[in-house]
Amino acid sequence: MDIEAIKAKIDKEIESIDSSEALTAFRLKYLGRKGLIAELTKGIANLPSDQRASFGQEVNALKSKIISLITEKEKRLGSVKEESFARVDITLPGISRQLGHLHPLTQTINEICEIFSRLGFSIVEGPEIETEYNNFTALNIPLEHPSRDVFDTFYLKDKNKFLLRSHTSPVQIRVMKSRKPPLAVVVPGRVYRPDAVDASHSFMFHQIEGFLVDKGIRFSDLKGSLEVFAKAIFGEEIKMRFRPHFFPFTEPSAEVDISCIICKAKGCSVCGRKGWLEILGSGMIHPEVFKQVGYNPKIYSGFAFGMGVERIAMLKYGIDDIRLFFENDLRFLKQF
Ligand code: PHE
Repeated sequence: MDIEAIKAKIDKEIESIDSSEALTAFRLKYLGRKGLIAELTKGIANLPSDQRASFGQEVNALKSKIISLITEKEKRLGSVKEESFARVDITLPGISRQLGHLHPLTQTINEICEIFSRLGFSIVEGPEIETEYNNFTALNIPLEHPSRDVFDTFYLKDKNKFLLRSHTSPVQIRVMKSRKPPLAVVVPGRVYRPDAVDASHSFMFHQIEGFLVDKGIRFSDLKGSLEVFAKAIFGEEIKMRFRPHFFPFTEPSAEVDISCIICKAKGCSVCGRKGWLEILGSGMIHPEVFKQVGYNPKIYSGFAFGMGVERIAMLKYGIDDIRLFFENDLRFLKQF
């Protein structure tokens, strides 16, 4: 075999190599176990003895040449790689990931719960499927009460036993039955009522219940706690008023209004020209409720309140349609 011819062929071949894959193939072709050099080396044994030494030297020289060609090519390919790497401008701004945030209702729930946490209330949750007993009977709501009607409550198949809770008050029963006073608890959660959906009604909405039981709790404790809450969430400058009302599970009961934050109590379309906005229902826990949970109403007293989260958020942020909370429209959600 003509070594000189091989050298010329190799020179040409190495010239055209432009990738490390091609270089690996080249290395195998010449230096591999079944490569050209191995073949030539094997062939030495078959040569006449006087030619073996010189041919062997030529093969060795060829092998060294190939190795140095490969080493050189490796360096060149490597520097090309470095060059293309240098062309990436690492100082350019990257593509940022869009960050989401909590839903405005979740933010409102968190804010309300935080205010009551600072007052020493703990946060408890209850199930959305409730017994008729917890939702109504134990809360002193009689069988003939209209809210127990199928038009006002979603009953599950097993009627007269399970329902979708229509308020968070049944968690009062659960907590009072499983703990002893003193206790102070807030309960955020979903509630359900079969209302036709419009700008101010939804078949599902959120409430936050709050209640506190101890010896010697008075109406003034309720007033003070709710005033701290209302000022923390709506601003120090708002005024409050307690309007007599009726709830079967509190006595006395009151609805709480704040001075209209939109018109500063002058009268506008949001407050119906009254200057006042209703924000929650409240009262002193009814002795009948205490009897149901096994507390002695002669020893313990307490207050309870319940508010609609959507309503609070709508007033706070000036939102005029409850449906906006549930449509998942990013143009709305991004504003919070
Ligand atoms: N559960 C009442 C409602 O849904 C609100 C309320 C709670 C009133 C606690 C008084 C005390 O309307």
